[in-house]
Amino acid sequence: MNYQKPIHNIFNDLKEIDDPGEVATYIPELAGVEPDKFGVHLTTLDDQHYSMGDSDEKFSIQSIAKVLSLTFAYKMEGDYLWQRMGVEPSGAPFNSLTLLEYNNGIPRNPMINSGAIVVCDILISHCTHPKAELIEFIRNVSGNRDIHYSDRVAESEKRTGHRNSSLIYLMKAFGNIQNDIEEVLDLYFNLCSIEMTCRELARTFLYLAGYGSCPYTSDNVISVSKSKRINAIMQLCGMYDEAGEFSFRTGLPGKSGVGGGIVAVLPNHYSIAVWSPKLNPKGNSFKGMEFLERFTTETEASVF
Ligand code: DON
Repeated sequence: MNYQKPIHNIFNDLKEIDDPGEVATYIPELAGVEPDKFGVHLTTLDDQHYSMGDSDEKFSIQSIAKVLSLTFAYKMEGDYLWQRMGVEPSGAPFNSLTLLEYNNGIPRNPMINSGAIVVCDILISHCTHPKAELIEFIRNVSGNRDIHYSDRVAESEKRTGHRNSSLIYLMKAFGNIQNDIEEVLDLYFNLCSIEMTCRELARTFLYLAGYGSCPYTSDNVISVSKSKRINAIMQLCGMYDEAGEFSFRTGLPGKSGVGGGIVAVLPNHYSIAVWSPKLNPKGNSFKGMEFLERFTTETEASVF
């Protein structure tokens, strides 16, 4: 399949539309991003690349990184992971406290903030140097040394992340956090601060299109079975309380971040990353959702 034409046409159409979304401002460092940035990159398993716009500019991948920390923790912890969190869609905002109270400190899934915080707690229990080992893991998955935390974004979140503090204290009270709260939050904020371009992001997520392996690296990232489960979690939980809408519109497992990125995979075919910083009211990129809906509709290919 040649993806160039649909990518080109959809991108150019959407570039012109009036975007009703708004850039995230609750993390001050994100508020300064140019709102009209727009990029897309698709990478196929057989090494074809298609891109448009600002696809080679780094941006804050935010919650998209939760898939990578989950992959790392799942490799080390195996199915014990699911004693600490569920795999059910939350149907609530990504930083909801209500749900956590209701579920006795067990996050509904690893894609919402509370779940990703527990994943960070698990990583700290397994790693001697969690921050360094996590970024090393991500660099290996990405096949790219030029992937870094942003100190500015991590610090900005640390100063303003009161909801995340509330989530972790609540989970600690329920006995679902084993390590020092500050250490866990530090890893979590750093995780969210990772920066990548659309090209790097699409390349990084290729292992989820490749049943756990990326064709460019000799190593398996994760087993076929675990890759299936991570994709299933993305499909049902990757877009928070808009997961149903995203699934309905695109038919792909995907993950968003409040930096305006969305990554989605079509298993056995491709991984695609879209970046447009203006978010809809649920915190997902407005143009990113539009782009992916039109793309899977026009290419007539999705997991369904
Ligand atoms: O903790 C937060 O609120 C952000 N670092 C991550 C939120 C995020 O990306 C949710 N995405 N849609």
